[in-house]
Amino acid sequence: MSQWIGIESLGFFTSRYALSLRDLAQERGVDPDKYLIGLGQEQMSVPPPGEDVVTLGANAAQRALHDTDRNSIDTLFFATESGVDQSKAAGMYLHRLLDLPATCRVVELKQACYSATAAVQFALALVAQNPRKKMLVVASDIARYGLDTPGEPTQGAGAVALLISADPRLMVLDPVSGVYASEIMDFWRPNYRDEALVDGRYSTRMYLQALCQSWTVYTQNTGRGFADHDRFCYHLPFTRMAEKAHIRLARECGIDPLPRESLDKHIGDSLFYNRMSGNSYSASLYAGLASLLDRCEEDLAGKRVGLFSYGSGCVAEYFSGIVTPGYRSSLRTTEREFMVQDRTLIDYAQYEAFYKRATPIHSGNAEFPVWNTGAYRWVAVRDHKRIYESVP
Ligand code: CAA
Repeated sequence: MSQWIGIESLGFFTSRYALSLRDLAQERGVDPDKYLIGLGQEQMSVPPPGEDVVTLGANAAQRALHDTDRNSIDTLFFATESGVDQSKAAGMYLHRLLDLPATCRVVELKQACYSATAAVQFALALVAQNPRKKMLVVASDIARYGLDTPGEPTQGAGAVALLISADPRLMVLDPVSGVYASEIMDFWRPNYRDEALVDGRYSTRMYLQALCQSWTVYTQNTGRGFADHDRFCYHLPFTRMAEKAHIRLARECGIDPLPRESLDKHIGDSLFYNRMSGNSYSASLYAGLASLLDRCEEDLAGKRVGLFSYGSGCVAEYFSGIVTPGYRSSLRTTEREFMVQDRTLIDYAQYEAFYKRATPIHSGNAEFPVWNTGAYRWVAVRDHKRIYESVP
């Protein structure tokens, strides 16, 4: 690498309301172990009225920018597959809410759960061009399937903001990666639908195929193998998917069976936030990285972490980064762990009420009741215009 470029800071935010998957299992007449063990999920975040990808993303970005001169931010990349407008980038609302400079360009990116990784790659290239500039990547999504469908227990919501700069206090990212793309229909959401459509088991097979293909290109491009990585983070539609993926990757690399203690060491710490908040689509890989950095007791300084990004449809990218010495002083671990653990657990009836209320307003006018949505709130739609405000 010619320059040290990577993640300077990371902010993670998820909804303040969650449904226990035990309660969902009871309502659906399913053995709770199917969700807790079979899918590896414990709770799912449920956004209340007044919370969307803009407010989730703004809350994450506020955490990533707490000690950053906002005038240094050159570009805001907003990655989402739960976009709120066909024309205006959701990031424009963040531009005002976060008081970003008029010289900061804003753009929205989409390719299912992969788009934040494209944004990270673009950001690395822009910083390489001008190392004084910083790029803000915000990945924010609400995973929404039909009620009582197989996808329902894999819903969730969350956002991650990454500040990419030439002062990578958390992780130096290697721009050399392995990409795999192929046009398939495993998961999609037509413009006229609020819920995703998915061919569930096919999507898990395609995820694993894309992992093997992108890994092969990555190893060809970098000369690295399995043993060159100390930890592994995966796109996490549900945490069990990472277990399956890691076992498959090890087998591809000639390690079969992978001992349970190796599996736990390699991926265990990366799963916590996703297990508690559910799928956050574009943000989920980076929520996994936050979980790893926050929860791993071993000092990861100097260790290489493999990162697998998958977006249905599909594009996958395998890349990696090296954890920076002293990274712990740039984390906000206590605050994040408190945020995830100190949430309001709602019952099934409240979940369904939130779910139904979350339907977009087609009349062009709606006022939302006040729920806890962190430091920002989606107040209303007036004359088809979304109104957001900071919460004092
Ligand atoms: N105790 C323990 N485990 C149990 C159990 C019990 N009582 N009952 C079932 N299980 C296990 C099953 O054996 C299975 O494990 P294996 O895969 O190891 O066999 C697991 O629980 C799930 O059971 P099913 O396969 O029967 O579950 P399902 O068919 O109802 O749904 C799903 C699973 C297809 C993943 C579904 O949740 C879904 O469609 N989710 C959305 C799509 C998705 O997340 N795809 C992931 C890849 S695509 C991607 O990553 C992009 C993205 O973000 C969407």
